[in-house]
Amino acid sequence: MNFQNLIVERKSNILIVKINRPSKYNALNDATITELGILFDEINGDDSVSVVILTGEGDKAFVAGADISELNKMDVISGRKLSEKGQAVFDKIENLDKPVIAAVNGYALGGGCELAMACHIRLASENAVFGQPEVNLGIIPGYGGTQRLARLINPGRAAEYILTGDSISAPEAEKLGLVNHVYPQSDLMPKAEEMANKIAGKAKIAVGLALKAVIATKETPQKEGERLEAGYFSLCCGTEDFKEGTNAFLEKRKAEFKGK
Ligand code: COA
Repeated sequence: MNFQNLIVERKSNILIVKINRPSKYNALNDATITELGILFDEINGDDSVSVVILTGEGDKAFVAGADISELNKMDVISGRKLSEKGQAVFDKIENLDKPVIAAVNGYALGGGCELAMACHIRLASENAVFGQPEVNLGIIPGYGGTQRLARLINPGRAAEYILTGDSISAPEAEKLGLVNHVYPQSDLMPKAEEMANKIAGKAKIAVGLALKAVIATKETPQKEGERLEAGYFSLCCGTEDFKEGTNAFLEKRKAEFKGK
């Protein structure tokens, strides 16, 4: 499908998705949220894609938030719909059957910070700026930000950033554990692709099940999570890639996984 607000580029089994509204700092208007939902529905279950990298077009912004010119027209009813729609699309990203790496290449404010937090791994450029500045607009984060930030860092720090609207520099985000690594901007995409290729080279079924188990920690008490883990572990033991991986180790050669 052709998208108006997304650039989708395939590099072998890595899909690079760019939010493409650079003149508006890639602000998420309704059309972009709709397109993200359609795209992530298409990617889910697509065996030809192993890893997705999500980034913003240009060198200024990942996503500078929901589109404030659209927000400005919201009322109580349409505001709820907007929030629920965005949450549903971001949940699709978080629950995708393959990893999504956010390559945060500039401002990641409001909906942009929330979008990055819906991804599984966050890498950032040195000029990245995170934050939930919604209180400055008289609203609160509506695309899962209150929930994901409090779980990703800690509730006290999350409350501070959400209540003050203060932004978080890339080094601070790294210290908080909000991003995994910070790179000079020119290194960000090569590093994201390097990580994506590394993951794509592993046993695909194991990667998918490991991701599901890690994501389950958000909703699941530890004992139940361990039961899930045992189930996924045993599924891996039935795969050809498990045989190949363990045989390759014992035969002192590199494993050649088939994703089966
Ligand atoms: N929604 C709509 N448009 C946005 C936007 C948003 N969230 N963020 C940036 N833009 C637009 C600006 O209106 C401007 O468009 P214009 O040139 O047509 O006027 C363009 O993107 C560049 O933004 P500008 O403010 O001129 O750039 P800057 O470098 O001075 O500041 C930011 C960058 C990100 C600090 C500033 O744009 C900003 O604060 N944006 C809003 C962030 C926010 O509150 N997000 C949460 C929304 S819920």
